[in-house]
Amino acid sequence: MVIKKIAILFSGTGSNLEKLLAFLHQQTFEHCKIEVVATICNRPNAAGIEKSRAYGIEPIIIDHTRYASREAFDEALVEAIVKSGAELTVLAGFMRFLTPYFTEHIKAINLHPSLLPLFKGGNAIKESFESPMKVAGISIHYVSEELDGGEIIAQRCFEKYEGMPFEDFEAKIHALEHELLPETVKNLLNRN
Ligand code: GAR
Repeated sequence: MVIKKIAILFSGTGSNLEKLLAFLHQQTFEHCKIEVVATICNRPNAAGIEKSRAYGIEPIIIDHTRYASREAFDEALVEAIVKSGAELTVLAGFMRFLTPYFTEHIKAINLHPSLLPLFKGGNAIKESFESPMKVAGISIHYVSEELDGGEIIAQRCFEKYEGMPFEDFEAKIHALEHELLPETVKNLLNRN
């Protein structure tokens, strides 16, 4: 059985990290077994740290505030990922701009809470909620040097209903993320 190794990067709550661990870690599929070999977080107080520990994986903390430049931070990230042996890195709520140094060295995918190419950047949920669009959704894409601009791998959408409260909108986004991200990672790895 082929073992496929992944690394997961996160910054905050870690609800997507948790879904990835629950659905994929040490799970055997038709063509492979998936192992999460590293979880990496840039914020020492992130709630997701405990979620990773609950699966027996001590997160590697790479605190971005301790690095003089984005490049220096990315070098530390790349070193940790390469050392882990991960063939795919999943950005699950990782809230840092990455430099070309990262994208040149690491094959990664990112979860983004909008229907790309609309609403790139850090305010996607609010912007898509406030937009006149009647649908909203989420995207998973390859990470490239362009922010939220790499090739789209998967998307899922829903209809906004009249008077939809922001809390319901946000909850719908997260519910879709929790399904689509593990499923997409599995589909990318579980191939001959
Ligand atoms: C998710 O909604 C994810 O799409 C978003 O951060 C949240 C993390 O939640 N990512 C971005 O906005 C990336 N630009 P989580 O920590 O509970 O998984």
